[in-house]
Amino acid sequence: MNYRHAFHAGNFGDCVKHALLVWLIRALQRKPAGLLVLDTHAGVGRYNLAEGPATRTGESRSGIFRLLGDPPAPLADYVGLVTDLGLYPGSPALARALLRPQDRLVCCELHPDDAMALRRAFAGDTQVAVHRRDAWEAVKGLLPPPERRGLILIDPPYEAPDEFAKLAEGLAMGHARFNSGVFAAWYPIKHRAPVRAFHNALRDSGLRDIVAAELWLREPLDAARLNGCGLLVVNPPFRFEAEAEPILAALLERLGTREAGEGFAVERLADE
Ligand SMILES: C[S@@+](CC[C@H](N)C(=O)[O-])C[C@H]1O[C@@H](n2cnc3c(N)ncnc32)[C@H](O)[C@@H]1O
Repeated sequence: MNYRHAFHAGNFGDCVKHALLVWLIRALQRKPAGLLVLDTHAGVGRYNLAEGPATRTGESRSGIFRLLGDPPAPLADYVGLVTDLGLYPGSPALARALLRPQDRLVCCELHPDDAMALRRAFAGDTQVAVHRRDAWEAVKGLLPPPERRGLILIDPPYEAPDEFAKLAEGLAMGHARFNSGVFAAWYPIKHRAPVRAFHNALRDSGLRDIVAAELWLREPLDAARLNGCGLLVVNPPFRFEAEAEPILAALLERLGTREAGEGFAVERLADE
C-alpha cells in the first residue's frame, strides 16, 4: 500500500468528488429517515495543506485553492463547508459535518497509520465508526444497513492495474446486497480505454440506473497524467443529472486551464 492521500489532498479530483458528494448527501437528506454513509476508502479525514506531503506536490494549488473566495453558486455549499471546517476536510470530515442526529457514518481504511489517525479524529463520536478493514470485505459485510437507506462512497487509490475490474465487481456485489443503496465511485481518467472498458463492464453486469459525471482538464491522451476524473453513481437521487451539470461547469470554469479537449459530461450509462 504505497498510496497516501496526504500527497494529493485538495487536488482537482478531490474537488470533483467532494462537490458531488455533498450534493448527494443533501439529496438523500430530503427524506427525514436516517441514513448510513459508508466511506469504503476513507483516508485520514483531514489534511494540512500548508505543510508536509501536500506542499511537496502542490496539487491543491490547482485544486481547492482555486475555489476558495467567492465561489460560484453551484459550489457555494461545498466550498462553504470546506471553509467552515478549517483544516482541509477529506470525505469523512465532509460527511460527518452533514450528518443529522438520525444518520451514521462508517469509515473503512486499510492503511494502519491512516486508520489510527481517523480513529483518533472521531474518538468519542457516537455517530461515527472507524474500521481498519478492507473496503470490499466491508461492502460485503456491512450491507444492507439496518436503516435501508444509504450512500456508499467508493474511492480506491488505483494503484493496482485491476482496480477498475475490482470496482465493477464490488459495485455488482454491493448492489446485490443493497439494491436501493446509492453507490458513488470515483475514478481517474488518464486515457479513454480503461474507462470505456469499465463502463462496458457495468452495462454488461445488468446493473440498472447508472450515471457517470466526468470532468476533463485536457484530452485524455497521456496515460501518465491525471487528465480528468469521474464519479459513477448507481441509483442517483432525483435531479442528479440536472444538478451535476452546473456543478461540473463551475468546477471547470475555476479549475480548467483552457487546454485542448477540456470539458465535462453527465452521461446515463443504464436506464432505471
Ligand atoms: C483516494 S484515498 C481516499 C480519500 C478519501 N476518500 C477522501 O476523499 O478524502 C484512498 C484510500 O484508500 C485506502 N485503501 C487502499 N486500499 C484499501 C482497501 N482495500 N480497503 C480500504 N482502504 C483502502 C488508502 O490507504 C487510501 O487512504
